[in-house]
Amino acid sequence: MASNSHFLVLCLFFISSVICQVTEFISIDCGGTGNYTDPRTGLAWISDNGTIMNYGKSSEVEISNENMQYRRRRDFPIDSRKYCYTLGTRERRRYLVRATFQYGSSGNEDAYPKFDLYLDATKWSTVVILDSSRVYVKEMIIRAPSSSVDVCICCATTGSPFISTLELRPLNLSMYATDFEDNFFLEVAARVNFGALSKDVIRYPDDPYDRIWDSDLEKRQNYLVGVAPGTVRINTSKYVDTRTREYPPVKVMQTAVVGTQGILSYRLNLDDFPANARAFAYFAEIEDLGANETRKFKLQQPYFPDYSNAVVNIAENANGSHTLYEPSYMNVTLDFVLSFSFVKTRDSTQGPLLNAIEISKYLKIEPRTDSQDVIVLNALRSMSAESAWTNEQGDPCVPAHWDWVNCSTSTTPPRITKIALSGKNLRGEIPPEINSMETLTELWLDGNFLTGPIPGISDLVNLKIVHLENNKLSGQLPKYLGSLPNLQELYIQNNSFTGEVPSALLTGKVIINYEHNPGLHKEAGKKIHSKSILGISIGILAALLVVLIGSLLFLRNLQRKTSHQKTAVQGSSLRVSAKPSTAYSVSRGWHMMDEGVSYYIPLSELEEATNKFSKKIGRGSFGTVYYGQMKDGKEVAVKIMGDSTTNMTQQFVTEVALLSRIHHRNLVPFDRLL
Ligand SMILES: *[C@@H]1O[C@H](CO)[C@@H](O)[C@H](O)[C@H]1NC(C)=O
Ligand SMILES: *[C@@H]1O[C@H](CO)[C@@H](O)[C@H](O)[C@H]1NC(C)=O
Ligand SMILES: *[C@@H]1O[C@H](CO)[C@@H](O)[C@H](O)[C@H]1NC(C)=O
Ligand SMILES: *[C@@H]1O[C@H](CO)[C@@H](O)[C@H](O)[C@H]1NC(C)=O
Ligand SMILES: *[C@@H]1O[C@H](CO)[C@@H](O)[C@H](O)[C@H]1NC(C)=O
Ligand SMILES: *[C@@H]1O[C@H](CO)[C@@H](O)[C@H](O)[C@H]1NC(C)=O
Ligand SMILES: *[C@@H]1O[C@H](CO)[C@@H](O)[C@H](O)[C@H]1NC(C)=O
Ligand SMILES: *[C@@H]1O[C@H](CO)[C@@H](O)[C@H](O)[C@H]1NC(C)=O
Ligand SMILES: *[C@@H]1O[C@H](CO)[C@@H](O)[C@H](O)[C@H]1NC(C)=O
Repeated sequence: MASNSHFLVLCLFFISSVICQVTEFISIDCGGTGNYTDPRTGLAWISDNGTIMNYGKSSEVEISNENMQYRRRRDFPIDSRKYCYTLGTRERRRYLVRATFQYGSSGNEDAYPKFDLYLDATKWSTVVILDSSRVYVKEMIIRAPSSSVDVCICCATTGSPFISTLELRPLNLSMYATDFEDNFFLEVAARVNFGALSKDVIRYPDDPYDRIWDSDLEKRQNYLVGVAPGTVRINTSKYVDTRTREYPPVKVMQTAVVGTQGILSYRLNLDDFPANARAFAYFAEIEDLGANETRKFKLQQPYFPDYSNAVVNIAENANGSHTLYEPSYMNVTLDFVLSFSFVKTRDSTQGPLLNAIEISKYLKIEPRTDSQDVIVLNALRSMSAESAWTNEQGDPCVPAHWDWVNCSTSTTPPRITKIALSGKNLRGEIPPEINSMETLTELWLDGNFLTGPIPGISDLVNLKIVHLENNKLSGQLPKYLGSLPNLQELYIQNNSFTGEVPSALLTGKVIINYEHNPGLHKEAGKKIHSKSILGISIGILAALLVVLIGSLLFLRNLQRKTSHQKTAVQGSSLRVSAKPSTAYSVSRGWHMMDEGVSYYIPLSELEEATNKFSKKIGRGSFGTVYYGQMKDGKEVAVKIMGDSTTNMTQQFVTEVALLSRIHHRNLVPFDRLL
């Protein structure tokens, strides 16, 4: 009878809890074979098989375990990738995130697994399995930074990484609020229930928030050792009012230890310490003290200046017995070995009492990859049918970057430097948001089915290599492509571009391929017969200034060796002469320069002089020649080098040198130019 009614109460409790809370719990049985409700707790567990996690394989755990969720685990491949679970959260709400690991293999492996656990971009912990039968529990208290968090496993140093369970539990109101929560997560290092009735942990449904309260009867190395003589365990069945801030479960507060000889002391190791920590002590007077009896004590060790002199008188501090008093330290620095003792004051009749403690380490939140960059990556993913690359998980850059991007992780936040999506069946237009990816240096989108124009990319000043060939892109090439300061390679062949190739792209500075774009041409008109040009032009050229333009790779290299100075007119100017050497003095003019002196004419000036390279007067061995008139009236012929292979560059330079040497400094026969 008695047990029946007890069961009934439990069930009622279950039903109401199930309705009000369990729907918000996420409990994933990693490697599990199906969904089920755990009869011991009433919690609904879901399997990660296929729906949540597509990687790794489910393995049976060899040792027997009453908890269904530990019968199987999920093993991940041993590689350089990361494997992530994404958990939906409500932004700025506090949660407990818990990952557990029971290896459970008695096998004769060389070494048990050792790998890293990440929460978003923040390294949570290194999981080191030393005892295959132990359930290693990692808990983190977070204020959700966005609408989801990623729990990732990666970077195995030995064995294959694995996980047994993953749980998400929302917390209530201001539970575990700290002054630092926007910048720090709280990694739970110890949560101990003193005077526990058994070795079992206390969790849901005793704790409606499903925290795990370890029993102080649990025997482990360096866990609650150095217990003072005279320590006794007490318990009560009376209700304890725990409604303060952290709502410890009543069941935890109904038990305690008392130092009957005036002292309570313990020592335990805190993993990943020393560190700054948030520490709570939970006290409730659960003994019925007589009117002439008092319980007053102080924390003796460790010594914290502001706290250690404070005398605890539980019933007085809590304003009544069987009521929680919950002093805490917002930020204390604790060592790896935590040794603490409470000592009764001289005027106290009873020894110190302790119900529970909780210690969490502050873990600095590392920034995730720049959100603007991620928007573009997600847009690109949505342009292709689902496949392995569109399903890559977690943050694009941390702790390991996705296969199809490269990152700069030295920046804060990390940023994308390369997108490599050649031949990935992308359809649609290149997302215009790409213009915000300022750190992008390489863009490989060739061999897809992209349509529409090249979006604005004028802000991508770090772009070096752009491959858009073999798509169905259309529209005109934006003029500023020629002034992207770092552009080295532009492949746009086999598309449907129209209009003209910006002349600045044809200087040889940029390796460009724009073939097989029927509507795209280099310049107006075809090769004109040189004889007729000679006829027309020679008369109007009173003097001829030869300005030879090219991306004189050869010269540039030489120049780099001699000078690392930035040219004042960088970007929009062309280097006309490069080296103080007669042989390579490529430009000769009236008073404009002395032989061998570097000489620059800004591109804008040349554009103006030639009316944007509109009047073609011929085509020579290395490229097209244009007519121009400088501001001061001088007429010039401007030759643009069309091909920038190193070989050609050298020949070009040689030609310039020859022309300069064998003819009058101000006069070069026009036909020599052609
Ligand atoms: C288990 O539950 C999840 C979430 O409710 C669901 O997506 C999945 O299909 C279920 N799996 C099975 C085998 O019922
Ligand atoms: C899911 O479970 C089925 C059988 O229950 C198994 O064959 C399959 O490999 C599992 N998938 C994963 C990803 O674990
Ligand atoms: C959250 O706190 C409020 C106010 O104390 C309480 O009414 C509510 O039941 C709590 N919710 C949960 C899930 O504990
Ligand atoms: C609980 O306390 C009672 C005395 O109040 C004691 O008889 C009993 O042994 C205690 N139970 C445990 C498990 O310590
Ligand atoms: C804690 O205190 C230390 C120094 O007292 C300070 O450097 C640190 O920023 C504080 N907060 C956290 C979360 O560590
Ligand atoms: C408190 O008073 C009770 C009698 O009321 C007595 O038995 C007990 O010894 C007293 N305790 C102390 C510490 O004086
Ligand atoms: C302490 O509790 C009493 C009733 O037990 C109440 O009258 C009093 O206001 C409380 N004091 C404080 C500070 O809460
Ligand atoms: C990313 O950079 C590393 C090192 O520079 C290189 O080994 C790797 O191949 C790059 N990945 C991609 C996708 O280009
Ligand atoms: C041109 O691109 C398409 C894809 O858009 C590709 O199928 C085709 O083979 C390419 N043609 C050449 C000549 O590369």
